[in-house]
Amino acid sequence: MPKVTYIHHSGAEHVVEVPDGWTLMQGATLNGIDGIVGECGGACGCATCHVYVDEAWAERLAPARDDENEMLDCTASERRPNSRLGCQIKLSGELDGLVARMPETQT
Ligand code: FES
Repeated sequence: MPKVTYIHHSGAEHVVEVPDGWTLMQGATLNGIDGIVGECGGACGCATCHVYVDEAWAERLAPARDDENEMLDCTASERRPNSRLGCQIKLSGELDGLVARMPETQT
């Protein structure tokens, strides 16, 4: 299972093992980690799963599809070059060690 480090805006770190096939959003919400809401349940329709993927990992992810890219223009916190929607990142062994930072707010 890939291990993911979620870093809250406050600086608090949570390291969790997330089952293969789960999304980055699910890894947070189903483990009770604050800072990612996932209001639409992963349908790419709310942008409340916005994360800043650590620079070293950002370029290893598949590029955002058009629908994700459009939703990233609707985030509550500023969009940055490494902004992604957590519900669109499916975890696998290749992403073991991924680091994601939560923005200040999701709403
Ligand atoms: S959970 Fe709604 S866009 Fe990701």
